[in-house]
Amino acid sequence: MGDQTRGNGSYEDEYRRSIADPEGFWGEAAEALHWERRWDKVLDTLKPPFYRWFAGGELNTCYNAVDRHVDNGRADQPAIIHDSPVTDSKTVITYAELKDRVARFAGVLRDLGVVKGDRVIVYMPMVPEAAVAMLACARIGAIHSVVFGGFSAKELATRIDDAKPKVMVAGSCGIEPNRVVHYKPLLDSAIESASHKPAHCVILQRDQGRAEMLEGRDVDWAEAAAAAAPADCVPVAATDPLYILYTSGTTGQPKGVVRDNGGHAVAMAWSMKHVYGVEPGEVYWAASDVGWVVGHSYIVYAPLLHGCTTVVYEGKPVGTPDAGAFWRVIEEHGVSILFTAPTAFRAIKRDDPKAEHLKRYDTGKLRALFLAGERCDPDTLEWAGGILGVPVVDHWWQTETGWAIAANCLGIEQLPIKPGSPTRPVPGYDVQVLDDAGEPVGAGDIGRIMIKLPMPPGCLPTLWGNDERFVQSYLSAQPGYYLTGDAGYMDEDGYLFVMSRIDDIINVAGHRLSTGGMEAVLAGHPDVAECAVIGVADQLKGELPLGMVVLKAGVDRDNADICGELVKLVREQIGPVAAFKTVIVVDRLPKTRSGKILRGTMKAIADGKDYRMPATIDDPAILGEIEQFLGAAGYAKHA
Ligand code: COA
Ligand code: AMP
Repeated sequence: MGDQTRGNGSYEDEYRRSIADPEGFWGEAAEALHWERRWDKVLDTLKPPFYRWFAGGELNTCYNAVDRHVDNGRADQPAIIHDSPVTDSKTVITYAELKDRVARFAGVLRDLGVVKGDRVIVYMPMVPEAAVAMLACARIGAIHSVVFGGFSAKELATRIDDAKPKVMVAGSCGIEPNRVVHYKPLLDSAIESASHKPAHCVILQRDQGRAEMLEGRDVDWAEAAAAAAPADCVPVAATDPLYILYTSGTTGQPKGVVRDNGGHAVAMAWSMKHVYGVEPGEVYWAASDVGWVVGHSYIVYAPLLHGCTTVVYEGKPVGTPDAGAFWRVIEEHGVSILFTAPTAFRAIKRDDPKAEHLKRYDTGKLRALFLAGERCDPDTLEWAGGILGVPVVDHWWQTETGWAIAANCLGIEQLPIKPGSPTRPVPGYDVQVLDDAGEPVGAGDIGRIMIKLPMPPGCLPTLWGNDERFVQSYLSAQPGYYLTGDAGYMDEDGYLFVMSRIDDIINVAGHRLSTGGMEAVLAGHPDVAECAVIGVADQLKGELPLGMVVLKAGVDRDNADICGELVKLVREQIGPVAAFKTVIVVDRLPKTRSGKILRGTMKAIADGKDYRMPATIDDPAILGEIEQFLGAAGYAKHA
């Protein structure tokens, strides 16, 4: 491992300085960027609990991510490498070409009437045009909202109604290993059912599944880009929104996480050097999807802001064509840092436990593997480190923060790795573990993981159009603190262990989903009286949703038919990404005396874990029944 990765400072010193003097710390970090107007105040604390970074400053995120590098000698360096085993193609786009493409597409948006502050929804597969569309919005000060392709038309409609976009940008199709996913019919149906009607849709036609265009509303990407004059970068306030990214909340209504321009750009650029230990010019690969926060931060913005080459990979860790796919990409493109979710490595390990495919490739340039998105089991961490021979860094963060809360900051100082822990809080984050009364718990004791305000730059300033929900969801549990929604503990060395969510969010293959949202779908079926969805442990995906339903009295249809309908409903209304495939019909659900369904207890039973009889249970006998139902369906085998 090179010296760069080993870092060049002391974690303790950097961390302490970031907490003692956040303005000095982040003001210095902000010098890495080009500002049209310098900030008046690094941190505006006038309206707590709302904090604003770089108030009074003006910049353009696209200029910093693209044009600045063209102006500073990186014009011919690859900015994006699109590697697409599913279409058998590879494309390299230099910074100069990226600038041209982005400026032209910004011209297309401008010609369609998009101005600063307007919203644009992007519904795209993993093609470079997804990044081009995002950067083009940033260029003209429009606010993008990328929706993951594995979500249904209904989820897309919900986002259309919340963000109220002037324009939609979509691919005609996405390509999954087992099928072509036609995006355009989903887009059309979402617009039809939404109350808000976007004025135009720009469609990127792909030969694998061309879309039918709607005269007057739909615009062909290639034709429009060829005809458009390039648009210049528009300076925006550091505190203006760059994007909205919807994420699962505790209800069916997703939360529109807002990201600002200034704080975000500073955090992204700082994290590349200090968390990941990457230098400008190196190849950085986040194997995720632009629809998730990892894709926003580490496929698009951070690598480009730092002058790296980013890999946009349209494929899977296995099956495209085999479990050697990642090693091929690392070798062919000279990847220095790989970032993915533990589930990807579990998939590779399942298909190729001895890593035979690795022998065919030279992965010598790889310096470290970063994993996030779900809890990383020590087995996966150790297996990955063993086969690759590089440090494997589990780091913990969430859509809301936009970058790592806890990590082993390789660019500062590599700390000893403790499997099961994402190491220590990243500079800027004052992480504390508190009990229900708001008191700090002792080392090793589990509590709610909170972040003392203010959070560092890059974290969400609010939820789109909903300051109240922002405060109520995140800031009201403990005044002065941000509630992460995760529970865990800190050991005596200050290492954090993130153990579980305290709400109904589950993590399926690194994808964040709300079981409450799935329950709302099941409850909408005419034969269902009551239901619960829990996340059961799964060896590949970490967790999988399992539905349990009680049918209405008098329903005498075949249970298998009803379960099939329920699976179809969730797929239609939430999307294939929910991976909702199993429902069990039960006679009753266990509840507390006040009527709250005991989901946690059912999860423990399903996972075959020991559990304590809840003191407030209404009828303890139901748990035995549930165990029988789960046992008959192949669950509840003692771990
Ligand atoms: N558009 C449309 N459908 C999509 C999609 C997209 N962009 N992405 C996934 N889907 C569909 C899949 O085709 C699958 O549908 P199916 O039920 O018809 O098979 C379903 O959603 C579930 O997809 P996925 O979670 O990818 O499961 P999988 O079984 O196809 O693959 C893994 C399993 C582990 C290989 C895969 O989850 C993976 O590569 N994970 C990497 C981790 C990752 O990217 N995490 C993101 C956060 S860092
Ligand atoms: P998302 O917003 O999709 O990034 O999901 C964030 C959630 O995923 C976190 O709140 C955690 O519950 C979980 N998560 C992400 N990374 C980790 C990690 N390294 N360890 C444990 N849980 C994680």
